[in-house]
Amino acid sequence: MNAPIDLSGVRLETDDLILRPFEETDLEDLYEYARVPGVGEMAGWAHHKSMEESKEVLAMFIREKKTLAVVEKRSGKVIGSIGIETYSQEHAGEEFQPLLCRDIGYALSKDYWGKGLMPQAVKRALNFCFDDLGLDAVFCGYFKRNHQSRRVNEKIGFQYICDRVYTTRYGTQEDGVFTVMRKENWQR
Ligand SMILES: CC(C)(COP(=O)(O)OP(=O)(O)OC[C@H]1O[C@@H](n2cnc3c(N)ncnc32)[C@H](O)[C@@H]1OP(=O)(O)O)[C@@H](O)C(=O)NCCC(=O)NCCS
Repeated sequence: MNAPIDLSGVRLETDDLILRPFEETDLEDLYEYARVPGVGEMAGWAHHKSMEESKEVLAMFIREKKTLAVVEKRSGKVIGSIGIETYSQEHAGEEFQPLLCRDIGYALSKDYWGKGLMPQAVKRALNFCFDDLGLDAVFCGYFKRNHQSRRVNEKIGFQYICDRVYTTRYGTQEDGVFTVMRKENWQR
């Protein structure tokens, strides 16, 4: 089942990053990375066409309390996001029905790709999911054409569950792969 989530007041740290809830003052940073074509499109959302659009997304992040800003420690700049989302019970199957589960999603500013930052952030978020939220499993996944996210999944050790088709927020269909990290397989 989908565990209830409220990330208010959460602050997680890694060597290079801080993960914390989005704030209204993050608008310019969010727009700066979300407006770049080819970032959101790999995660199923269209790049932002205006700051007004980013403002609406930011308001949603703040209201829904399930998304963390990924902040570069050195500069204090918001460079991405991690969402602890609802998972697809249809694709996970009955095995997970009695367990507490969520799905993790992430996106990083194109300027910061290739430095191992998102694996660092997702590992910290997984520790939080298992140790603090008490989850039993965290799902993930990626479009088959998204080599970068596949690599993040592999580096962290998510396990394959099934192929699936994702419907993007802009209405297209993408062939993808659905993966899971079970609590008992998580190496801290
Ligand atoms: C997926 C994503 C979060 C990876 O974050 P990251 O911090 O760059 O992750 P890594 O540094 O571990 O790099 C992962 C892979 O990306 C590829 N990569 C690295 N730099 C790259 C670049 N500048 N351009 C394209 N691909 C690149 C490499 O294959 C790398 O794997 P490797 O370490 O085995 O060489 C990031 O690419 C991103 O935000 N993509 C767009 C949104 C997205 O795909 N979200 C996930 C949806 S499921």
